[in-house]
Amino acid sequence: MNSVETLFIPEEIKNTELEGKLVVVIDVLRASSTIVTALANGCRGFIPILSPKQAKEKAQQFEKERVLLGGEREGKKIEGFDLGNSPREYKGEVVKGKTIIFSTTNGVKTLEMAKNAHRIIIGSFLNLHAVGDYCANYRGDILIICAGKEGKYSLEDAACAGMLVDSLKNALSDACKESDANLTAQLLYEKFGNNILKILRKSQHGRYLESIGLEKDLMFCSQLDFFHIVPIFRDGIISIKKLNKERKD
Ligand code: MLT
Repeated sequence: MNSVETLFIPEEIKNTELEGKLVVVIDVLRASSTIVTALANGCRGFIPILSPKQAKEKAQQFEKERVLLGGEREGKKIEGFDLGNSPREYKGEVVKGKTIIFSTTNGVKTLEMAKNAHRIIIGSFLNLHAVGDYCANYRGDILIICAGKEGKYSLEDAACAGMLVDSLKNALSDACKESDANLTAQLLYEKFGNNILKILRKSQHGRYLESIGLEKDLMFCSQLDFFHIVPIFRDGIISIKKLNKERKD
């Protein structure tokens, strides 16, 4: 691992070089958490597609019993889709062996914007230290990109980035330790420590999800290291590779 940099919204990508970098996409509430959960529960892979219309067209290319449409707009299930974006819906008996065509507001947008990176992995509190191990073994520069909320900063993604930076701090150069973005994220993590549910309940999107009856999603997404997997986005599909030491070349 060379350098680590944190972006609080994907729109900052335009000022940053993606070439040759490992990107960690963080969308705690809820895209990252849903992807990690479904893959841990045996789904074959996620195909992220921004527009719901194109997602429905993509699903037509699959045998009906081998594909599901999942995603949200304003936190609610998209009309005509099989699943919303609550990780609690992506149980083994529902997703095992299935490919998920996936459309969400911020998480999928961030994946789309980061696609020119060398490698993209999915981070959340659910798989935080598995991602930390992966980063520590990666030979190259790392970019942590928070999905945010419609182009704005989100507390929960920044705190998750802070916990990840903190887990890498012993291997970080002074320059990385002192970058304002890394430091801000880490100070945020230090403020809340492992009281993750408190962070999610304080966050704007967390309060919105509670207002539409999804408080149980906050509890689910606040579980630290519940899964030990690292989803990788490659060739248009997100799937899991059980913690193999990834060489950059
Ligand atoms: C997103 O990608 O915008 C979020 O995951 C939205 C949500 O699920 O509430």
